[in-house]
Amino acid sequence: MEKEKIILTGDRPTGKLHIGHYIGSLKRRVQLQNSGEFDKIFIMIADAQALTDNFDNPEKVRQNIIEVALDYLSVGLDPAKSNLFIQSQISELTELTFFYMNLVTVSRLQRNPTVKSEIQMRNFEASIPVGFFNYPISQAADITAFKATTVPVGEDQLPMIEQTKEIVHSFNRIYGETLVVPEALIPQNGAQGRLPGVDGKAKMSKSLGNCIYLSDSADAVKDAIMKKMYTDPLHIKVADPGHVEGNMVFTYLEAFSNQQQLEAYLPGYASLDEVKEHYKRGGLGDVNLKKFLINVLEDELAPIRARRAEYEKDIPGVYDILKKGTEAAHEAASKTLSEVKAAMKINYFDDAELIKAQAEKYQRTE
Ligand code: TRP
Repeated sequence: MEKEKIILTGDRPTGKLHIGHYIGSLKRRVQLQNSGEFDKIFIMIADAQALTDNFDNPEKVRQNIIEVALDYLSVGLDPAKSNLFIQSQISELTELTFFYMNLVTVSRLQRNPTVKSEIQMRNFEASIPVGFFNYPISQAADITAFKATTVPVGEDQLPMIEQTKEIVHSFNRIYGETLVVPEALIPQNGAQGRLPGVDGKAKMSKSLGNCIYLSDSADAVKDAIMKKMYTDPLHIKVADPGHVEGNMVFTYLEAFSNQQQLEAYLPGYASLDEVKEHYKRGGLGDVNLKKFLINVLEDELAPIRARRAEYEKDIPGVYDILKKGTEAAHEAASKTLSEVKAAMKINYFDDAELIKAQAEKYQRTE
């Protein structure tokens, strides 16, 4: 039998998802889901991981479960094709984490670049909670529990996949071929991989107020682009020559727009590069470009908003979708955990051979 193709990925429920999440990962997930190429798809709301640095704010995590679920459903993840589930409800993930901890050194975790920068961001340097420090191992449990072959994620998650691969290799070498080596799938288009905030700051973040959320109204999106988007402070009059690098309108167009949209919304240019050339020469105004970008984003966001409105009418139904997805995820993870325990020789009561052999050893021969 061909090896099954399985997707596992997820997000921490610490806030609503924004268009950076969408272009960096969610859109691709939906395409993969609809490609029909995958045998199983698991999409996880990583609440246990969110608690590793929000342990003192459980209400925030709890409130954001439904936000992330609505975001998932509204972008087109389809519960008939993808199991949407909640991490903390799968206790097998914690057990796997505990066993994998034996296979990773403290210095290896300290070298993880994503963890390093997160420790700085959270001012954890002086006292890192063990649970937070350990989350790459828990992420390896998430991935391997489902025998995932494919993990669609943003570029920042590559160190986690590397760590997972190392754990899989160590486990299989020591205990015998049991776990599946996963591959990360990251966006090929650089602009899509790292979408900055509308203000041009490196990252979209709630605290910086520079996000466009998937759940934002058309007016809110328009305002964010018209009033907040960083363009080129030196491009004062339309006739002035403009700068394209660091200009968020171009960065976003790079990430979101396609040729048909260029023809429909900004006719007269053969390519986005020609638009850039015109802007650099001078004579192309920010407002025209911003209107183009608003149209481009609305093409993506209007259907998402409409689907969200439908699901919002039936919130208990959304929890039910999560419950069903969690049941399916539990079944898959529990099968893997049994195999792991057998490989690690901690399946005493299931091992008739062991009991028989021990019995024979202690049998008195008269
Ligand atoms: N670390 C991911 C994030 O911050 C969330 C996550 C948890 C995840 N477990 C995962 C992603 C397993 C992919 C696979 O968004």
